[in-house]
Amino acid sequence: MSQFFALIPAAGSGSRMGNELPKQYLPLCGRPMIYHAIKTLCNNRSIAGVFIVLSPGDIHWSQYDWSEFSQKLTVLQFGGATRADSVLNGLIAAQQKNLINPQDWVLVHDAARPCLTSDQLNKLIGELASDNVGGLLAVPVADTLKRGDADNHVRQTESRDNLWQAQTPQMFRCELLTRALQNAANMNVTDDASAIEALGLHPKLVPSDAYNFKVTYPQDLALAELIIQKRNHP
Ligand code: CTP
Ligand code: MG
Repeated sequence: MSQFFALIPAAGSGSRMGNELPKQYLPLCGRPMIYHAIKTLCNNRSIAGVFIVLSPGDIHWSQYDWSEFSQKLTVLQFGGATRADSVLNGLIAAQQKNLINPQDWVLVHDAARPCLTSDQLNKLIGELASDNVGGLLAVPVADTLKRGDADNHVRQTESRDNLWQAQTPQMFRCELLTRALQNAANMNVTDDASAIEALGLHPKLVPSDAYNFKVTYPQDLALAELIIQKRNHP
């Protein structure tokens, strides 16, 4: 029987956030941001374990109390130079430690998406558990899309037909994702699905919603705070 594991790459520095503290540790509703995704993943009964991939030089993780998640949480301090490197290093370390089998599913989730809900998570697992390839949460593009030139003048309006914004979790079998990321080593992929696509496969898009957005810029933090506050105190 295949099991489901989550892997959170959390070795980034949050350069677009412009804060000295890496963004996964910025305070959000009284907790470091990464706490919220960890909680949603650990509390899900389908998820057997959660791997956290930290930067080798991380000095922040150990300053918090993670004991409430100790049953499911494994820290792997093997983060790399890019998100793809961090995910690949984490997958390899987890396999070397015999914590995961090649045919188990891995749900890769950004530490910077704290507003993931258990409904979204269950929908992803439900839609993909018997899929041959796997897939990802995604949202159909809502805005009109403009292609600009170097001086910010519109060159043309792009059709948004069949265009989606990729989110996480992105769910693939451990062996396939490891092979895909190894193959994509020099391709600058910014998500896991891109590496799978580079093998000629077609990940499934599972409709999600805008609440599962990625905290990237300072103003995003305030929005995430509002969403989580409202959930905690409806
Ligand atoms: N990530 C990682 N290792 C890296 C780069 C990113 O594990 N070398 C992780 C981040 O910690 C985050 C996720 O990948 O959880 C998504 O990346 P992003 O939102 O781009 O975060 P950062 O790379 O930290 O931010 P920025 O691109 O603004 O520097
Ligand atoms: Mg980044």
